Amino acid sequence: MKYNTILFQIENNISIITFNRPKALNALNSELLSEFSAALDEIQKNQEIRVLILTGAGDKSFVAGADITELACCLSSIQARHFASLGHLVMNKLQELPIPVIAAVNGFALGGGSEVALACDFIYASENAKFGLPEITLGIIPGFGGTQRLARQIGKNMAKEMIFTGKMISASEAHQIGMVNKILPPASLMEEVIKTAGMIASKGRVSLRAAKQAVNSGMDVDLATGCKLEIDAFSICMAGEDAREGTTAFLEKRKPEFKGQLNEPISKRL
Ligand code: CAA
Repeated sequence: MKYNTILFQIENNISIITFNRPKALNALNSELLSEFSAALDEIQKNQEIRVLILTGAGDKSFVAGADITELACCLSSIQARHFASLGHLVMNKLQELPIPVIAAVNGFALGGGSEVALACDFIYASENAKFGLPEITLGIIPGFGGTQRLARQIGKNMAKEMIFTGKMISASEAHQIGMVNKILPPASLMEEVIKTAGMIASKGRVSLRAAKQAVNSGMDVDLATGCKLEIDAFSICMAGEDAREGTTAFLEKRKPEFKGQLNEPISKRL
């Protein structure tokens, strides 16, 4: 499929989606949101892609939020509900993608931009990155999951301070409060993200999906229920082709070659 507002590449089992509206600092307009959603559907169906990386075009911005020109002058409450629901649908699709997703934040990640990054599995940021949920300064609140994912990620009081003040924080502050895993010079951000993506891409798809689901689902339940989810995910992994390959390769002192597909039938070992 051809896209106008994103670049979509696949190389060495790694897909890179680049938000590509640099004149508007890659703000999320409706066209970009629906193209991003369609690209996520393509990725979901493509068994070759093992890791997704998200970044922004240019050297100034990852995503500067929802496109304010589409918000200005008055969405009705019903239109606003549709707008936020579409944003949530796309962020949920991103979070629930069966492969790991890394946000390579190369500048402003504001409003919807921080919300996209928070729906990824983890964030690497360039030294010049800035994070924030400035919606309050526009007389609104975050609408693509920010009130929920930020509070879960950095704790409720830190999240409230960011949301109530609308202030931007630097990459190093974001790192200190646990929003960002690693900070890098702008010139080496993509190289490092691709290196980490490569390490992940060499692992089995089935176990990556199981690990991602176990962590994500476990965050929203009590420990005992989370541990039961882990037992389910572990048993499904053990019954798959990749577990046989990984354990056999260890005993045969060779590198494993994981070929398990996400739709493979569960073997009799379950
Ligand atoms: N929507 C639409 N256009 C945007 C935009 C946005 N979110 N952010 C920046 N732009 C546009 C600017 O209007 C400007 O366009 P023109 O050149 O045509 O005037 C261009 O991008 C460059 O921006 P600036 O000149 O403002 O660049 P700067 O370096 O002076 O400032 C900035 C950069 C601090 C990021 C500033 O642009 C800014 O504050 N942007 C808005 C950030 C924001 O409020 N985001 C939240 C949006 S609401 C939201 O996201 C709701 C939700 O939860 C889904």
